This record gives sequence, structure tokens and C-alpha cells, in this order.
Amino acid sequence: MSELIPVEPFDIVVFGATGDLALRKLMPALYHRWVDGQIPERSRIIAASRDEMSDEEYRERARTHIAKEAKGKSWADFAQHLSYVAVNATETGEHWTHLKSKLSDDESKIRLYYLALPPMLYGPISEVLKAEGLCTPNARIVLEKPIGKDLESAKAINKAVCQAFPENSIFRIDHYLGKETVQNLLILRFANWMFEPIWNSTGIDHVQITVAETLGAGKRADYYDKAGALRDMVQNHLLQLLCLVAMEPPSSLDSDPVRDEKLKVLRALRKISAGDIRHNVVRAHYRAGVSAGEPVSGYEEELGRSSDTETFVAIKAHVDNWRWAGVPFYLRTGKRMASRRSEIVIQFKPVPHDIVGAGRLHPNRLVIRLQPDEGVKMMLMTKDPGPGGMRMRYVPLNLSYADTFEANYPDAYERLLLAVVRGNLSLFMRRDEVEAAWSWVDGIINSWAQDNAELYEYSAGSDGPSQSDLLIGRDEREWYDGSRY
Ligand code: BG6
Repeated sequence: MSELIPVEPFDIVVFGATGDLALRKLMPALYHRWVDGQIPERSRIIAASRDEMSDEEYRERARTHIAKEAKGKSWADFAQHLSYVAVNATETGEHWTHLKSKLSDDESKIRLYYLALPPMLYGPISEVLKAEGLCTPNARIVLEKPIGKDLESAKAINKAVCQAFPENSIFRIDHYLGKETVQNLLILRFANWMFEPIWNSTGIDHVQITVAETLGAGKRADYYDKAGALRDMVQNHLLQLLCLVAMEPPSSLDSDPVRDEKLKVLRALRKISAGDIRHNVVRAHYRAGVSAGEPVSGYEEELGRSSDTETFVAIKAHVDNWRWAGVPFYLRTGKRMASRRSEIVIQFKPVPHDIVGAGRLHPNRLVIRLQPDEGVKMMLMTKDPGPGGMRMRYVPLNLSYADTFEANYPDAYERLLLAVVRGNLSLFMRRDEVEAAWSWVDGIINSWAQDNAELYEYSAGSDGPSQSDLLIGRDEREWYDGSRY
């Protein structure tokens, strides 16, 4: 593991501290960074929610989520820095005194307000934080995705939050940007000369981005049913991945150069009109099936009612600019799929002239595996060693993270929380990026409504509906399934 650089002391207030995100992701993330010595002694972690509870009760709740390793001296030390306050964060008043007493008097200290809460509360809470005098010079607000449910609501949230905090103190999280392999995309593309000359419509035939999960909507079904795969995954994670693949080289890794280039990609996405929707977008949800050898229920059974929300979406997208003219980006994501895998496939074009003949050449393919089994695989043609004749084989040049790096690298939230403390905005979405992404996604939602788009079904534990194979098959291409070559 590379050297750990401690951050400055900070106070973090986690609103929504009894919720799933805070307990399952944020508390473990803070604990792990604490154990690794990256969080300075003078830092404080304040868990806040409406429920009345003692510090001890909250600590115990957090500990059970951090699991086995949270014990002994390191847990006792961490727990000393963790306290709990009950607060109604959407109303000003006396009840804030307790929380304020927990914060450092030093107004220049870095403060994080993490809203692990539904987006409709972001505006009201920001307003209250301002009214309570809590927007100190080094205060930062951290917002979870989704920022709203469409362009209009996203704009309203952004506007309200921006009235309390300047844009450079607002950290909009897309946890995919905190993943090791996602950050590596920038390095792979821009710290290696070999890709850039062919990273365009001359060298690349098409791009595939797949984020497949084996889990169903589960306990989050109520939230999920209002969102669906397009809003929950495409608007943020998949579009961010697409941006990192398609963007022009930024002048540096500083936040604005990176975000400026991503924004240009989002703005260049071709709108999908009602007339084009059927051939370019497929939506579906899962019915009962077998997942990991176990029978599982369908989406509607899990939800307990009928629904027309999609748990799978496949899209053929285009980035209308010089670099990508005519290169389709096929995106797909779904729950309850055959296997959990997130990967980007760059399919290069065939060589201009086949010197071997007989059509035995496979075009190069770069497979970037984001999770699990993180790695990068370049498929190449090589000569098959042998006594005579020219036989060839399509073989991988393989960079496996597990074999190459000893690191047990931190979870995305660990990296992102420290990035907020450091004030590094490049891993977070800027207001205009979020709005540009919604604008494109809203176009799809509107076209679905106009076209009365069909909702297909797929069996849980499968690779999605057959219509998704058709979407790419119509272009005489197929989804990369990892098992062939
Ligand atoms: C979240 C979505 O943003 O990402 C979830 O709301 C999804 O529905 C999750 O399960 C996937 O994240 P990861 O890191 O497990 O790929």
C-alpha cells in the first residue's frame, strides 16, 4: 500500500446517522481510516439523527455494523471520538445547542456536514445550517446521489444548497469516482501514450459499459421503485464512467480541468427522441428465477405490488463530437443478473489489411474490470508457437490487481471522505455536471412516456432480457460476456 498521508484535524457531523448508508458505509469507512492512523486525534465524529439515544447506544449500533474487527484498543480509541446527538435538522431552534457544543470552537477548523438523507432534505437542512451560523469558513457539505429525481428537482436542490454554501464547499458524491479502478481510468488513458492516438473513431469500433449486480432491490425496494435503474445507476455511475472513457485529456488532475472535460461529454450526448427510443433503449424488470443457486422472488413479489419500474436498462448512446463520431457506447445495468461485474470494454477496429488472410484475426479489445477481480486485460493476436505454419491465437495481456499490488485498498467511501477533508473536488460532481446528466436522462424518461415504452421481463439470475441482445445484435455486435475471449 502506498504511503498514508494524514489529513488535517476535522469535525464531521453525519446527519441520518441511524440510516443504512451511515451505518453500513460511513462509520466503517471512518473506523478503517482511524485504525490506519489517517485521522488525527483532534478530530470528532458526531452522529446525528432525530432519535433519542445515548452515545453508548449509538456506538454499540455502529460497532455491530463495523463487525468483527471493531474491538480492543483501536475500537475504544475510535469510540472516544464518536458521539451522538438528537437533532431535528430541518428546523432551527434551541435543540441545536447540544450539537453546537460538540463542535470545536475554532471556526477555522475543517467541518464536514454529511447528509446521509433523502435529497428533498438537502435544501431545507442547508438553510437551517446557515441560519444556525454553522456555515463556517472551512465548512463543507457532502451530498449523496441522487441529487433530485429529474432536472427540475436537481436545479431546485442545487439552488437551495448554493444559497448556504459556495460551490467549492459542496461535495456531491458519486461513490464510483472513489473506486480505485475508476480513478485508474484517468491514469491508464492519460499517463500512457500508446492509447491516445487510437482512442477515437479511427481506432475504436465501439465501447461497452456494464454494471451488473446479483442483488435485488431488497430492503430498498420502496426507494428503488420511485427511481429505477435509469435514475439510480445510469444518471450517475454509468454516465460518469462514460465521461472518463470519452473525455478529452484535461490539462491537469485538478478539479475544474477534469470536471470541465466531463461536462463537455455530457453535453455532447445525443438526445434519444421518442422516435428512436425503441431501437436505442431497453427497459425490463426481473421475474422470479435462480440466483447463485438459490430460488429468488421477482421484483414485484419483493415489492409486494405491481410496478412498472425497470431494474434493468440497456442503452445505445452516442457522443456527438469529432472524436466519437459514429462510435456507439452501449451501456447496461441491472439487478439480479447472472454475476456481479462492472467492466468497460473498448473494442478496437480490425487492422486495415489482413496480411494473414482467411479472416482469422480478432480485433484488439481492452477490458477494464472495475469490480470484482479488478484488472486490465488487453486482448492481442499472437503467433501460436509451433514447429511450422502460421497459426495464431487471441491471448490476454493481463494486469490483475490481486497479483500485481499487495494492497488491500480502501473502500470508495474511505477515499472520498478523506478527499472531502483535503478539499479535493475532482472526485465529486459539479452542479453543471449533475444537471447535464439529468437533462439527458430526462430526455429518455420523456421519450418512454411519449412512446408508451414496453417494460420487458428477464429471469432473475440471467443476463437480462433478450431485447438487450437484440439492441446490440442489430448492429452485428454482441455483449462481451467475459467467458469467450
Ligand atoms: C448505488 C445504487 O448508488 O450503487 C444501488 O443506489 C447500487 O442501487 C449501488 O446497488 C452499487 O454500488 P457498488 O459499489 O456495489 O457497485
